[in-house]
Amino acid sequence: MNMIQTSLQLPSMPRQILVTSALPYGNAAIHLGTMLEAIQSDIWVRYYKLMGHECYYICADDAHGTPIMLSAEKAGISPQEHIDKMQASHIADYQGFLIDHDNYHSTHSDENRELVYSIYQTLFDNKAINTKVIKQAFDPEKEMFLPDRFVKGECPKCGTKEQYGDNCENCGATYDPTELVNPYSIVSGATPIEKDSEQYFFDLPQFESFLKEWLAAGHTQPEISNKMQEWFEDGLHPWDISRNAPYWGFEIPNAPGKYFYVWLDAPIGYMASFKNFCDKKGLDFDQFWNADSQAELYHIIGKDIARFHTLFWPAVLHHAGYRTPNGVYCHGFVTVDGQKMSKSRGTFIQAATYLKHLEPEYLRYFYASRLNASIEDLDLNLEDFQQKVNSDLVGKVVNIASRNAGFIRKRYGNILADTLDQPELFAQSIEVANQVSELYEQRQFSSAMREIMAYADIVNQYIDDKKPWQMAKDESLTVETQQVCTTGLNLFKQLMIMLTPVLPKIAAESQRFLNVDPWTWADLNTQLLGHKINNFKPLLNRIESSQLESVIEDTKAALQETPAAKEDDKKAQATTSDDSNAAAKDNGYISIDDFSKVDLRVAKVIEAEPVPEADKLLKLIVDAGEGRTRQIFAGIKQHVSPEQLIGKSVVIVANLAPRKMRFGLSEGMMLCAADGDKLFTIHPQEEATAGMQVR
Ligand code: 2FM
Ligand code: ZN
Repeated sequence: MNMIQTSLQLPSMPRQILVTSALPYGNAAIHLGTMLEAIQSDIWVRYYKLMGHECYYICADDAHGTPIMLSAEKAGISPQEHIDKMQASHIADYQGFLIDHDNYHSTHSDENRELVYSIYQTLFDNKAINTKVIKQAFDPEKEMFLPDRFVKGECPKCGTKEQYGDNCENCGATYDPTELVNPYSIVSGATPIEKDSEQYFFDLPQFESFLKEWLAAGHTQPEISNKMQEWFEDGLHPWDISRNAPYWGFEIPNAPGKYFYVWLDAPIGYMASFKNFCDKKGLDFDQFWNADSQAELYHIIGKDIARFHTLFWPAVLHHAGYRTPNGVYCHGFVTVDGQKMSKSRGTFIQAATYLKHLEPEYLRYFYASRLNASIEDLDLNLEDFQQKVNSDLVGKVVNIASRNAGFIRKRYGNILADTLDQPELFAQSIEVANQVSELYEQRQFSSAMREIMAYADIVNQYIDDKKPWQMAKDESLTVETQQVCTTGLNLFKQLMIMLTPVLPKIAAESQRFLNVDPWTWADLNTQLLGHKINNFKPLLNRIESSQLESVIEDTKAALQETPAAKEDDKKAQATTSDDSNAAAKDNGYISIDDFSKVDLRVAKVIEAEPVPEADKLLKLIVDAGEGRTRQIFAGIKQHVSPEQLIGKSVVIVANLAPRKMRFGLSEGMMLCAADGDKLFTIHPQEEATAGMQVR
């Protein structure tokens, strides 16, 4: 191996970096949406490691909370057994996608219990904890206090339907479940009652000025900083960190029957997993977590949980005497073919289902080619996915190796030439690598992939121009042919080093093929000359349409097998949240008596206009033949324009209890047909007049 003089940029000092991604709930299988975050974090960490930094990727299962308790109860096993099983399946899924956690632990662990207790004690001693008697949602049928996520209803701030009792996925507001409009218990379907209960609060408002300073220091993306400003303007509120028994979690010291809310102990789980890692490896935990730590700490999370990580978490850490994060970086959600992942369309794809049919690196590359540092959603369009992977990875990168390897094996006994044909092409790869490393660092992965592929185009063009397959026929060009193929393979090496964070398995196989030790970024400076390589084996096959079809089919089949999935899908397909209360109770059939209770009527739309403050709502004034008009709010703004409805007949549920919404009273529900998230209006024949009964 010869060294060349280049200007490859390498770090002058190794940094200490700790990266976490959100801890998945120990209650649900990992799907391709969850995997986006793991892939994003893993690429970032692998990049830092390749650059020679001391970087650790820490994760764990988020193992507490009522959903886990109830699922275990339903399955007839203990919560511990339940979380152990889930953790094993999560680890298998992550490994399947080549996610290389340095440590994967659980929030239900001794380390976490100790840290939670000590942090709570410090907060308590520093007067950051208060108690207050509050009214809480209570399920009168199941006889239990309902955790936030077990009450659903309309967001008290923006009116969005089907929101959980803790925060709104639409506007980001956080609130108590008792503030939801038209709430229902998802355990029994009953309307919750309110019951008094003493709870423990973290006094967030005390930390407003600290949080404003933290925000001003630029630890978040601009979109999240704006959101934080809004939260400050709305006013900070004390945060309820306690839950009543029965609850699966850590009991609060000196407070019998009270447990720490899962969202208090979950982020502490980042520390606990790292503590567990330090104990195994002999590392200094304090060096990373003390208030004056010089190590860097980054949390990669979904945008829906920003508030927990940018308000509560820095305030808890700071007030408990620990360091705060250098960065809380959010990503958007994954949509499939432009729509929310849906079980019935077969696009709610679980990690394990994908892995049965497809290589993990296809998805790693596709996500990398679409990810940037913003919080935009990412669309997994299956045709684009197939096309992008086949054209870039198979057609451009891997092809370079296969186009050159055969000649080197057959004619030169797998020995590379002593010089390159065009050293300037190699020098160009160093310039590309310098740009790519900056882009990796800034989490601008899509731009990094673009730079790499543009360079792969240059390399392929070089091979096209040289035509080694023709040169090989000419005896007088023996030396030159070897040099050209050696150049091709060296440039392939350069590309593969740059792609290592994204394609770790293909990179490892390329190292075997090129007969080199595991490389680092610094090996971009190394030319393989006069070097013996190994026989080439195909590194990656094209994605066939039949493989994608199998993934979709399997996903649909899984829906039919699990009753829980069926129920979820039914809820996902409900045209409005008005009928999801019933869906929660419904186990299948309803009786004719049940059906006859629903008064369906033809109504004529007199007026229709968008509700400006709501993303989804149209306000309709309809005539249902009653000698008066009714006002109905319908969540169809994105699917039909007001003009398309005015003058048309529609079908309404006339005897739905009137509902007070933020925008006014809604007196009925308009029926629509649903295909996943898409809605289609239903219109009776023109002869049907307002007020006719629909049977
Ligand atoms: O939203 C979720 O899936 C949570 N389980 C994330 C927890 S992240 C951290 F705070 F632990
Ligand atoms: Zn809202």
